[in-house]
Amino acid sequence: MTLSVPLTREHFERLDRDDPLSACRARFDLPEGEIYLDGNSLGAMPAHVPARIEKVLKEEWAHGLIRSWNDADWYPAPQRTGAKIAKLIGAQAHEVIVADSTSINLFKVLVAATRMQPGRKVILAEKGNFPTDVYIAAGVAELTGCELRCVEPDEVLDALNDSVAILSLTQVNFKSGRRYDMAAITARAHEVGALVVWDLCHSAGAMPIELNGANADFAVGCGYKYLNGGPGAPAFVFVAERHIAHVRQPLTGWHGHAKPFDFTHEYAPHPTIDRMLVGTAPQLGVLALEAALEVFEGVDMQVLRKKSVALCDLFIQLCDEQLLGLGVELRTPRDAEQRGSQVSLAHAEAYPVMQALIARGVVGDFRAPDILRFGFTPLYTRYVDVWDSVEALREILHSAEWNRPEFIARKSVT
Ligand SMILES: Cc1ncc(COP(=O)(O)O)c(C=O)c1O
Repeated sequence: MTLSVPLTREHFERLDRDDPLSACRARFDLPEGEIYLDGNSLGAMPAHVPARIEKVLKEEWAHGLIRSWNDADWYPAPQRTGAKIAKLIGAQAHEVIVADSTSINLFKVLVAATRMQPGRKVILAEKGNFPTDVYIAAGVAELTGCELRCVEPDEVLDALNDSVAILSLTQVNFKSGRRYDMAAITARAHEVGALVVWDLCHSAGAMPIELNGANADFAVGCGYKYLNGGPGAPAFVFVAERHIAHVRQPLTGWHGHAKPFDFTHEYAPHPTIDRMLVGTAPQLGVLALEAALEVFEGVDMQVLRKKSVALCDLFIQLCDEQLLGLGVELRTPRDAEQRGSQVSLAHAEAYPVMQALIARGVVGDFRAPDILRFGFTPLYTRYVDVWDSVEALREILHSAEWNRPEFIARKSVT
């Protein structure tokens, strides 16, 4: 939505009045007077989650005690929550389960996929991916006797050949916000006989995803970003129906067993997606994530995407208009088709600039060495937030307000 006339705040107020998702903001408990543009790192808290967790703690745990695994239906929560996530990512309910962290699910899926490709020895991955994806792939390569080959994002298609066992990609890059064409890349990988593992950390909950529409093989993703499950929320894993019976994942814990409560000596994998489980779920986290997902009820993901594109387009247009000559460079593709729901700007003093923004109540984040990251979560971000955040950024850069010792000193989590 690129307009040729200079924008005004009134324009953004009007967009908020006409926004079909504006009522969704009330589903979240957000600090008054702040603009939160970091839902791509830690999603905001859905307002009803504390009451649900209080019930879990005070009734189900305190009084139900061990009975709650049955009586409060704790045990099937990973499957129930997986089914809710399935709706957001174009999967069937029985293809998704909640378990462990994204890193651990990546390990399980990469080993399982490698075992399904005897005779092929290359795990193909991208340079510049989130480090855990690369580190885990390197660990899996070492363990399975494969070679990890990392190429630039633009070289992925050319690097696909019949030696590739697995292609492991993140749909939306954590730093640049660049998005791959999942369907086209999966189709090309399948042509050469490779299986594809998609990391959906920066796309699940932020846009419509069609895993089965793209004929995807495996996917993982985290629960604490656009799914709003809370700090350290458990992650999810998707295995396409056609692969479930063949998947042998390496972490053969008792919850992945066909009959966990028979307590047999021999491991036998569960016939369903449950075989991706390892041990006892972090139950409080699973139940918080399950409750959090209610914020998506009645939300049309196409409408959500339309707003996400508009927010990002407007943010980029305002940066073009207002930050000229202030040392800022756009690092996210301008073409919405190639973008997730974030915009990244490069600036030589990105760290203190972000600290100064946060001090003004505009919360984004910094990614080394020079990236200012702004995540736009369409369920709770207002159009005026776009206007006000660029205004704040312009003032900070113009006045060099960032150049203060308290903003320059690095904190441990950036
Ligand atoms: C692409 C990607 N994968 C994985 C993770 C994190 O994995 P974990 O939840 O295991 O720390 C992140 C975190 O930001 C990420 O951006």
